[in-house]
Amino acid sequence: MVTVKDKVFAPFIEREALNQRIVDMGRDISRDYKGRNPLFVVVLNGAFMFASDLLKGVDVLCEISFIKLASYEQTQSTGKVKQILGLAEAVQGREVIVIEDIVDTGLTMSQLISQLKAQEAASVEVVTLLHKPEAQKIAIDLRYVGFEIQNRFVVGYGLDYDGLGRNLDAIYVLAE
Ligand code: XMP
Ligand code: MG
Repeated sequence: MVTVKDKVFAPFIEREALNQRIVDMGRDISRDYKGRNPLFVVVLNGAFMFASDLLKGVDVLCEISFIKLASYEQTQSTGKVKQILGLAEAVQGREVIVIEDIVDTGLTMSQLISQLKAQEAASVEVVTLLHKPEAQKIAIDLRYVGFEIQNRFVVGYGLDYDGLGRNLDAIYVLAE
């Protein structure tokens, strides 16, 4: 068990399981994008640790950029997505792969995909470490999913509870 601020979290996905799955995902992306030159867009803050490990296993020539979005306050989605930091790279004509930590309601991802398509990306695909199918309100095509999980609040490996817990090296779930 770990305590983050005022809540207790239990082990959920171990470091070893994360490592193995992320190696496989890197292989899948490398195979699918062989000979192409994708632009990875990492969604900050949550995806920083996942992106760092995933991209070490991607062996195609690629560019990596960052965007900062936020929709969560404490442990609840606010239903609104704020874009805090814009994308510097031109996406027009690019094959874009968005790297996200978790898709919950799908609101964040659907808005980001719309923005990238409006900027005339040649293609937009999503790689997410976690997906909560039961929480999803908006249908989106998720090309690469690490783990499908129940609709419970998780922290660690980049994911936070009120800004804390991102440095935990595995995924933990809110204890009931
Ligand atoms: P939506 O609902 O837009 O949410 O798909 C995606 C964003 O919400 C955050 N999120 C979480 N953060 N534990 C977290 O630490 C969770 O269980 C969780 N669920 C959603 C996350 O920032 C994601 O980008
Ligand atoms: Mg996030």
